[in-house]
Amino acid sequence: MNTLCGTDTNVAASLLSQGELVAIPTETVYGLAANALNEEAVLEIFKTKERPIFNPLIVHVFDWDEAKKYVLDVPLEANVLAEHFWPGPLTLLLPKNNLIPDLVTAGSELVALRAPNHALTRLLLKQIDFPLAAPSANPSGEVSPTTAAHVLEGLNGKISYILSGGPCEVGLESTIVGWNNNGMPVIYRLGGISVEDIENVLGIKVEVSPSISDRPDTPGQLKSHYATQTPLYLGDITDLLAVHQGKQIAVIRFSDSSSLNGVAFQYVLSEHNSTEEAAKHLFETMRRADASGADVILCEPMPNVGLGPAINDRLKRAQFINKTTLPDTTQKGNVQ
Ligand code: TXA
Ligand code: MG
Repeated sequence: MNTLCGTDTNVAASLLSQGELVAIPTETVYGLAANALNEEAVLEIFKTKERPIFNPLIVHVFDWDEAKKYVLDVPLEANVLAEHFWPGPLTLLLPKNNLIPDLVTAGSELVALRAPNHALTRLLLKQIDFPLAAPSANPSGEVSPTTAAHVLEGLNGKISYILSGGPCEVGLESTIVGWNNNGMPVIYRLGGISVEDIENVLGIKVEVSPSISDRPDTPGQLKSHYATQTPLYLGDITDLLAVHQGKQIAVIRFSDSSSLNGVAFQYVLSEHNSTEEAAKHLFETMRRADASGADVILCEPMPNVGLGPAINDRLKRAQFINKTTLPDTTQKGNVQ
């Protein structure tokens, strides 16, 4: 299959209507989209990404009115959050009605819904009369794509069209909010909207329980490499440099650009001390460090504010899988 890249939403709409897959830009990461109401098309997503079918997909809609077509009940806070953050990097886990195929939710009674905030994809969603199931547009287990070129790196020849919408503005996957048995909102995945912002809008403290991993299988079943091919270690840079002496080293830091002795490649995620800026550059920088030819990537944790915790969450997952000698059975997953 020949993979074309373009900006024509008519082409994307027509392919999607025929049950084909199209990569779409969003403000978080690029998605690999199919008609969410067409089970055969949805199955193609799992095949193309080599994603286990027990890992459910987020359903993308134009707005909150459209989302409500697919759910049974709506907690009060869901209205408030959607009104405040949509379109935007927030996914809501709500009880689904039977318009949404079980394949999409992997048998769960909850569907993950999100209205992405990207002009081209919003135009596309206006043109079609079905919602889009879309995981991140990378082969399972690899770094999420934040440009059309990243999508091409992973999926060239496997899909016919990439709707090209420039680099993603947020650069981290959406924050996922659901409700626990007591009806209280819970943040199940840290992402593009900070915990503080959600708490400010709801006016309450919100439990953070990142139980949603992108690979809800056991560590033993994970591919040997996730994220970067080059082993990535997260920690204090001085300590890590002492451990990895003599190797070809790439270092990723938050905002400190002072040059380090004996380090071949240095990257800074934010020149302006901003966790938003760091989030935007994270996946691109991980790819660049990976392609640098270094033996190891050493990365410092981000400050624990704003999008810092969400970035650290992704870095911890990246680190875990590369340390195959240190299996941690309490750690469930990986960014897909
Ligand atoms: O920003 C994003 O969320 C991006 C863009 C493309 O929208 N999408 C994304 O999708 O990150 P994906 O598939 O890479 O991650 C979605 C996560 C997975 O961990 C999946 O297990 C979880 O959401 N998820 C989806 N539907 C769910 C459901 N019904 N119940 C529980 N978890 C769900
Ligand atoms: Mg993913």
